[in-house]
Amino acid sequence: MIRGIKGVKDIPPSQMPKWYVVEGTANRLAQAHGFKEIRIPIFEQTELYVRSIGGATDIVEKEMYTFPDRDGSSLTLRPEGTAGVVRACIEHNFTNDPTCKKLYYIGPMFRHERPQAGRFRQFHQFGVEMIGVTSPYADIEVIALLWRFFSSLELPGLTLEMNSLGEPSDRQEYKEKLAVFLNKKLEDLCGNCRRRMTTNPLRILDCKVPHCRTATQDAPKLLDFLSPISKDHFNQVLTGLDTLSIPYTLNPRLVRGLDYYSMTTFEVSCSSLGAQNAIGAGGRYDGLFEALGGKPTPAVGFAIGLERVLLALPEAMVPAPKPWIFIASFGQSGSRAGLSLLDSLRSNGITADTDHNVSSLKSLLRSADRLSAPYVLILGDDEVSQNQAILRNMVTKVQEIIPLHTASSHIKEHLTDLVDTKSFY
Ligand code: HAM
Repeated sequence: MIRGIKGVKDIPPSQMPKWYVVEGTANRLAQAHGFKEIRIPIFEQTELYVRSIGGATDIVEKEMYTFPDRDGSSLTLRPEGTAGVVRACIEHNFTNDPTCKKLYYIGPMFRHERPQAGRFRQFHQFGVEMIGVTSPYADIEVIALLWRFFSSLELPGLTLEMNSLGEPSDRQEYKEKLAVFLNKKLEDLCGNCRRRMTTNPLRILDCKVPHCRTATQDAPKLLDFLSPISKDHFNQVLTGLDTLSIPYTLNPRLVRGLDYYSMTTFEVSCSSLGAQNAIGAGGRYDGLFEALGGKPTPAVGFAIGLERVLLALPEAMVPAPKPWIFIASFGQSGSRAGLSLLDSLRSNGITADTDHNVSSLKSLLRSADRLSAPYVLILGDDEVSQNQAILRNMVTKVQEIIPLHTASSHIKEHLTDLVDTKSFY
């Protein structure tokens, strides 16, 4: 037997109602905020991710699914969406098209991480990228959408953490001060952080190992090294969040695991999720277009991990399934009439099904029960000869005789009358 890959999950039909709610909310809200969907490739040239995410990040060093193409060139399954979106914008000149400046995507990403609850090797992100706007209002708009997505889904226990990484020139002086500080703490740092001393010292602040956190408790804070321009930008973002009553805390340790960030960075964590509690994150990446060969273009965005959203989603957010009808037709003329009725119901937009494996009324009703059909239409040779059918409510067991030639419209009225159609997914 061939098994699926570790950390790469099947999504069974029973889980799909939750996905419809989450993806439906993402599509609806992104579009209501003026974002247009973009579909970018699942794999790209490896160089794209190395240059955007950064060669000294965990993602590029350890987590990418990289493989040679038949011509020997190196390809990688996308570990995130921002790099692909920026590549597409540069390649197709989207920056000149006013309708292509606010983009969103929903789809699978791939990282070779150790699988655990809420952490997968294939996972899904809903991401948005707002391109070409320097104003702090862009940051605010993006964070407002992120927060509205979570609030609409009524996710409990969320915390939004904010930080600013400043511009590269702000970080230059800070990195020197941080290196002096960290050099005195080398003994107290984990092996990973000691290695990061030369590759990516800022990431040491983000390390979750308790003794590293204690050692870096009094580290200089990047916020104290921001230029007046960076400081003003960050303050305007925070003021905007206050205006919109979006609660946040400042976290000067929030560095993020991707190198393209500058200025505003943010992360939302969810207290019900355990160790993998980061449910969404993002920030500004004003230098990325240039780094990938485009014109200097400011941009800001976020991505949300949809599996984690599903884990935190309250059951009450999943609406009752759409009502549908099971056709229990049997006998020669009954089966023929059943076939026509199934077709007519489906063409009228009513969900209808049957079981072609059984042919007696008893076994048809058993199948309807197993499928939890809320309604069954009973149609045998006798019913056909009297030009009628029996509509049975499987919950109340109440039966009603309806004329066969108007059965389709009768059922349609019946089903939509009984259930609030707004609650359908
Ligand atoms: P990220 O922080 O690497 O950012 O990922 C965003 C979210 O994806 C995380 O907060 C988490 O919810 C989810 N996630 C990441 N790895 C996994 C995993 N192995 N299993 C399950 N969920 C996971 C980015 O990807 C940036 N591209 C965000 C961004 C967009 N920044 C600007 N624009």
